[in-house]
Amino acid sequence: MTESTAKLEFRGKTHELKVRPGSVGPEVIDIASLYKDTGAFTYDPGFTSTASCESEITFIDGDAGVLLHRGYPIDQLAEHSDFLEVCYLLLYGELPTKAQKDDFDHRVTRHTMVHEQMSRFFTGFRRDAHPMAVMCGVVGALSAFYHDSTDISDPYQRMVASVRLIAKMPTIAAMAYKYHIGQPFIYPKNDLGYAANFLHMCFAVPCEEYKVNPVLARAMERIFILHADHEQNASTSTVRLAGSSGANPFACIAAGIACLWGPAHGGANEAALNMLSEIGTVDRIPEFIGRAKDRDDPFRLMGFGHRVYKNYDPRAKIMQKTTHEVLGELGIKDDPMLDVAIELERIALTDEYFIEKKLYPNIDFYSGITLKALGFPTTMFTVLFAVARTVGWIAQWKEMIEDPQQKIGRPRQLYTGPAERDFVPIAKR
Ligand code: CMC
Repeated sequence: MTESTAKLEFRGKTHELKVRPGSVGPEVIDIASLYKDTGAFTYDPGFTSTASCESEITFIDGDAGVLLHRGYPIDQLAEHSDFLEVCYLLLYGELPTKAQKDDFDHRVTRHTMVHEQMSRFFTGFRRDAHPMAVMCGVVGALSAFYHDSTDISDPYQRMVASVRLIAKMPTIAAMAYKYHIGQPFIYPKNDLGYAANFLHMCFAVPCEEYKVNPVLARAMERIFILHADHEQNASTSTVRLAGSSGANPFACIAAGIACLWGPAHGGANEAALNMLSEIGTVDRIPEFIGRAKDRDDPFRLMGFGHRVYKNYDPRAKIMQKTTHEVLGELGIKDDPMLDVAIELERIALTDEYFIEKKLYPNIDFYSGITLKALGFPTTMFTVLFAVARTVGWIAQWKEMIEDPQQKIGRPRQLYTGPAERDFVPIAKR
């Protein structure tokens, strides 16, 4: 056996399995031929030890708290880049030159409007619908409006669909918000940056001038950057799996949105803020910490813990700084929710239970407070996550489609139901 193989003893036979190195990070044991060679499947619910694909886009070292996009650390991108530059990097693999950046910005900006008939599509929803429910429907419906970019075998159409999705998601998200609160839709403004335009579409009204605060626009931009991609998380894996059958990109992104909505994933920022408000005051924190530790209580501290990060989420550090910038700019000094958040973080970081289980605050812990200060209701939090993550989803989808080895995703199972038996007529049951 050489260093690049692993040995598996199974049913009296030895099988050699190829070990493949990554550029950084753990190696993988290639089991693609295992079933053919042994007749057995592997079992890994939740994919805790399984690499579902090969990817060059994002790298996470959860133990060290590192997040790299195409090799660039997230803190450097959040500090020096803007969201559309990060989009370009994720999609094309390199930071753009000035000319490439101008061209990309221009292409995205010229696609920000949505088909006018889409505004009538919104009116089919109840006003009190959760904006994520609206997002699932409207984004899925994009394929009904933009047929000319649904042929996934055409690289040009793939590119157009990618640009359309990045450009139109903020518009659709803002429309979902405006519809929810009963205000008229605001058209995109092409002389504003990506995040500033989004704030404008959400908070402007036709009857008065709205000036975007640059500090808040920068914070929004940073929130978008921090959520842009996160390798093979649940919603991205959903997008890849949906796309593996050849489904069009709009349908795949709608599937990703549906998955993101869950409280263990993108819904956590909404859940974290609801939890902070339920705790209410600092003196009630011990009660909730006690509940989080109680094995018989299903309660969990929302915004704590991560499947991959067993160290401080690097995005949470940047988010914490952004939160303070936003609160400072808006003159919010005594926010009881922030007091609860800071104290909760302090207690959790020094509590044996959280230390032992490596449960650190994740990005959602702070993003909720920031988004609330920016003026968004909690129901919009996951929508904003979806706007930002669209580029990650589409970059991963594009990588998959362009991979010559790509085939339909089709997991196996360990069947534990009844063995074959004869049908019993209803009168005899
Ligand atoms: N509060 C209290 N205990 C926790 C928490 C928490 N937030 N998270 C995990 N644990 C405990 C859990 O009870 C288990 O204990 P035991 O070993 O005694 O059974 C242990 O820690 C391991 O938990 P797990 O559920 O096996 O870990 P996981 O990797 O499957 O779950 C997670 C990761 C994010 C779903 C989970 O930590 C959680 O539910 N956190 C709260 C929700 C949240 O903040 N989600 C946002 C994730 S970041 C945004 C994103 O990427 O979408």
